[in-house]
Amino acid sequence: MAQVVIHVLLSVTVTVITLLGLPSTTEADYLYHICPNSTVFTPNSTFQSNLNHLFSDLSSNATRNTGFYNATTGRTPTDSVYGLFLCRGDVTVAACKSCVTTATLEVVTHCPIEKQVVIWYDDCMLRYSNQSFFSTAAESPAVFMWNTGIVTTEPNRFNQILEASMTEVATETTNGSDKFATKEAKFTGLIRLYSLGQCTQDLSSFDCNTCLREAIAQLRSCCGGKLGGRVLYPSCNVRYEVYPFYHQNLMSATAPAPALAPPPAPPIKGKSQLPSLVIACIVASVVLSVPAVVVARCFFGKSRLVRAKRQKNKAENDMTTVESLQFDLGTIEAATKKFSDDNKLGEGGFGQVFKGTLDNGQEIAVKRLSKSSGQGVREFKNEVLLVVKLQHRNLIRLLGFCLEGEETILVYEYVPNKSLDYFYLSVEAEKREQLNWSTRCTIIGGIARGILYLHEDSRLRVIHRDLKASNVLLDANMNPKISDFGMARMFGVDDQTQGNTQRIVGTYGYMAPEYAMKGLYSVKSDVFSFGILLLEILTGRKNFLGFHHPTTSPPTLLIYAWQLWNEGKVLELMDPLLKDSCSPDEFSRYIQIGLLCGQEDAKIRPTMSSVVLFKESKYQ
Ligand SMILES: *[C@@H]1O[C@H](CO)[C@@H](O)[C@H](O)[C@H]1NC(C)=O
Ligand SMILES: *[C@@H]1O[C@H](CO)[C@@H](O)[C@H](O)[C@H]1NC(C)=O
Ligand SMILES: *[C@@H]1O[C@H](CO)[C@@H](O)[C@H](O)[C@H]1NC(C)=O
Ligand SMILES: *[C@@H]1O[C@H](CO)[C@@H](O)[C@H](O)[C@H]1NC(C)=O
Ligand SMILES: *[C@@H]1O[C@H](CO)[C@@H](O)[C@H](O)[C@H]1NC(C)=O
Ligand SMILES: *[C@@H]1O[C@H](CO)[C@@H](O)[C@H](O)[C@H]1NC(C)=O
Repeated sequence: MAQVVIHVLLSVTVTVITLLGLPSTTEADYLYHICPNSTVFTPNSTFQSNLNHLFSDLSSNATRNTGFYNATTGRTPTDSVYGLFLCRGDVTVAACKSCVTTATLEVVTHCPIEKQVVIWYDDCMLRYSNQSFFSTAAESPAVFMWNTGIVTTEPNRFNQILEASMTEVATETTNGSDKFATKEAKFTGLIRLYSLGQCTQDLSSFDCNTCLREAIAQLRSCCGGKLGGRVLYPSCNVRYEVYPFYHQNLMSATAPAPALAPPPAPPIKGKSQLPSLVIACIVASVVLSVPAVVVARCFFGKSRLVRAKRQKNKAENDMTTVESLQFDLGTIEAATKKFSDDNKLGEGGFGQVFKGTLDNGQEIAVKRLSKSSGQGVREFKNEVLLVVKLQHRNLIRLLGFCLEGEETILVYEYVPNKSLDYFYLSVEAEKREQLNWSTRCTIIGGIARGILYLHEDSRLRVIHRDLKASNVLLDANMNPKISDFGMARMFGVDDQTQGNTQRIVGTYGYMAPEYAMKGLYSVKSDVFSFGILLLEILTGRKNFLGFHHPTTSPPTLLIYAWQLWNEGKVLELMDPLLKDSCSPDEFSRYIQIGLLCGQEDAKIRPTMSSVVLFKESKYQ
């Protein structure tokens, strides 16, 4: 059989849709399906009625508490249908039943006449065929999915922990009667790794083990270094994330409860000290997102690709405007000397960034996104249009885009200086000296106003989700400009301002605990990241890396800062280069803001408007 490798790069907008899908406890979360159209049946045939019969058998048997059932319908071999469902080992009987029922109802829209079908949901999998496949391990077709976030802190150690966890999971899954196991492991004080493995219950231990080993090997190659990943086979699947995605209370495995290392209670009375401020909101805004990635590898023929749901977007009327933002590839290539290495400014999670100069002399920054398919062109354009409308002196301006052939490119205003971390984390004292106290105050103020604009001063609420020093660029006058709204999300003002996502994006050191642990994010997660950034700017140290203090564990700047604050020794935090230019009172006030923003409980963190007001108010 030919091996067909299919790369399905869901477009930018599709990711947004996926991410925007708030989890619901009743609806099953669809992942993927594969059903080659080379093997089809005739509508209204005996096969069809046997299939319907199979659906009802499976669906009614989903009330058993085994989470697995296999069934056969049909009298003659030629029109028999073999099928099974497998629910994730931790889901309740009700959730299992609901998922299987949903699968039997929805699969006919995806695969109306196909005979050999696998469809995966978060909570369950449904598989059927005109060929008996029970008790046989199948490692094709396969679907790989991964979190687009990258492990930035100690990736090697992360991979070692992942490897060890997966090995344990495989052993436990193989040995267990329900062929399901999970494992929780500690990575850092804040981050834990959650892994899961499962086989269909008709497999022998030997076959289950073989299937899992193969899946783990694939997981290594598809998803190594990523914040999460899954390999879905018809007979087994493995998954890991940095947040608990399975129900721990139902687990037989005695995993310890996730342990946060909470900073001590704030020495000042949380938000009561902070004046609140209501700010009027206008202007449209939005967001771009990382392409989510699903790769399906299909051995038994061509697969039907997921058709992206279309997102109705209010900006559709603006398409004519959008066309005027379009750059052609020739222009971009000329501007960047065909993406020459000399013009390369850097490389981020989304792709490479190049400096360019247009014919008229205007300098631009060109972000060449990782390749994506032609899907969702219209949605992509709508997003661009909205982002273009986000204009603030502390945000990098998006000028336009280019969509041609394989290329997806964003064109930004060019900012001459490097990112903030280049200055304050530089080992060269001269670079850090450029950031004297008043410059640092300007930078902090600018970042705060930029985020405030994203959070409150725009019609759609924008959460950045990956605020960090390397995402703050400095212009010639050392004014900060926030870049990479790539992971931000948009909310209508009437919508909930808090979401929950399957795929966590962001950067470890800056991620709020509720975001890192549970995938919960809100404007308050950005506030947390701002707090960490603020502490870094004031101390000239990084929250995780390059910071060690023998008595703190885990050695984070945030916890160390709380400790010194409580001991009344907050001035010890000051970057030595600030000694001459900074008043102790002002320094303490800024540290206090950083600590308030970095509180573990999102509810009592101040809003960005309070931060701006507090920062500008006189110290009392
Ligand atoms: C099967 O799918 C391919 C591509 O998805 C399509 O070109 C072909 O026409 C389909 N064949 C049938 C019989 O539907
Ligand atoms: C299949 O049966 C349904 C209802 O019995 C009928 O409406 C439909 O036209 C039939 N389709 C074919 C292709 O015979
Ligand atoms: C379960 O499946 C069997 C056939 O495999 C069927 O006879 C039975 O009615 C189904 N329902 C229940 C509740 O057992
Ligand atoms: C379920 O699968 C087993 C093999 O694992 C087979 O012996 C049994 O007949 C199947 N049950 C049904 C109802 O098809
Ligand atoms: C399943 O269906 C395909 C296509 O209809 C057919 O070629 C194949 O022989 C069938 N398999 C069995 C076991 O009936
Ligand atoms: C689990 O399986 C492994 C091999 O996969 C075996 O070495 C070990 O003894 C088994 N443990 C238990 C408790 O059955």
